Amino acid sequence: MSTGLVLGVETSCDETAAAVVEKGCEVRGNIVSSQVGKHSPYCGVVPELAAREHLENIHMVVGEALGTAGVGLDKIAAVAVTNGPGLLPALLVGVNFCKGLALANDLPLIAVNHFLAHIYGAFLDGATSDLYDDASYPMIALVVSGGHTSLVKVESSGVAEIVGSTVDDAAGEAFDKGAKLLGLGYPGGPLIDKGAHGGDPRSFAFPRGLTGAAGKPLAPENRFNFSFSGVKTSLLYHSRRNGLILEDGDMTRNIRISEEASPELLRDTLASYQQAIVEVLCSKMLDAAEFFGAKSLVVCGGVACNSRLREEMSRRVPENIALKIAPPKYCTDNAAMIAGIAWHYLKNGISHGIDTDAFSRMSSPILTAPWK
Ligand code: KG4
Ligand code: ZN
Repeated sequence: MSTGLVLGVETSCDETAAAVVEKGCEVRGNIVSSQVGKHSPYCGVVPELAAREHLENIHMVVGEALGTAGVGLDKIAAVAVTNGPGLLPALLVGVNFCKGLALANDLPLIAVNHFLAHIYGAFLDGATSDLYDDASYPMIALVVSGGHTSLVKVESSGVAEIVGSTVDDAAGEAFDKGAKLLGLGYPGGPLIDKGAHGGDPRSFAFPRGLTGAAGKPLAPENRFNFSFSGVKTSLLYHSRRNGLILEDGDMTRNIRISEEASPELLRDTLASYQQAIVEVLCSKMLDAAEFFGAKSLVVCGGVACNSRLREEMSRRVPENIALKIAPPKYCTDNAAMIAGIAWHYLKNGISHGIDTDAFSRMSSPILTAPWK
């Protein structure tokens, strides 16, 4: 008889994470080792550096997850691992480690799609039953992170279709690159979120990409797509024009904020920049909700930590539509979402062979959610 305990491992980007989750919902141990300190000098994730760090930490992180859960591998029913999408060198560390673990302990190996796992993570705080309820569908999920900005329509059958994605940068990248441009540090999202507090979000009119604003007609195929490269470029020009940055270097250099720049100007700039990103995310999600007749909405991924996004979504979503915003600890990359979703494969007798490969990008916009 299966214990229902799944050990999950996540190494798709710059967090080495492991978790033990019981029957898809009870998180028994959840360890995340962040590499932020290693990547911050580069203001972005260096894939080979991430892989080396994963290799160094994975053994310890898995041991800690098991220790926190108070179980040994003998109690584990399956090993689950993110096999994509993500940074290939980083993914390979987790995938190969878990293959070895599964083989050595005669356990099934379950390969998990990181993107679908982010959606699942929104329900890990005791709300997984909402996922099984047909009344929640169609569901529209906004997966918004450093690697993704996509709108996904999930049907009660479990078919999950990506109906819109970014045509250039992800929203998380817009936060990270914006913060880099202003010399604030990495990762940019939390720093901009904090720095924008008290600022006036209406101070400066940053562009709202692919919304049909600014008189540019929106092509129908871009209705649910996103673009964040314009707002980033606009921030560069704005910062030069207003003397916010010390030198007008390009986006790849570290730039310091001018000491003469007023703190109010910086706060208003950050608040307005953040508002431009948040408004596009909200309006596209609400438009998709109306168009597809959504019964529930999900906001997940690292950017879902953003306080302004959480506020605006909560304020703007109509009362007749259920809104689930992932709890912050399950927004950013973690392995609880991996172990949780994997239980549904295990329950249905599905495992993936030892020849399972890692992949960097999704090959199809249609996925199958295993929880339905
Ligand atoms: O989901 P995640 O941990 O990794 C990926 O799968 O990409 O997301 C990381 C992203 C980073 O771009 C980070 O700046 C952003 O999430 N982020 C935020 C906030 N916290 C994290 N963005 C805006 N506001 C935040 N509070
Ligand atoms: Zn992620």
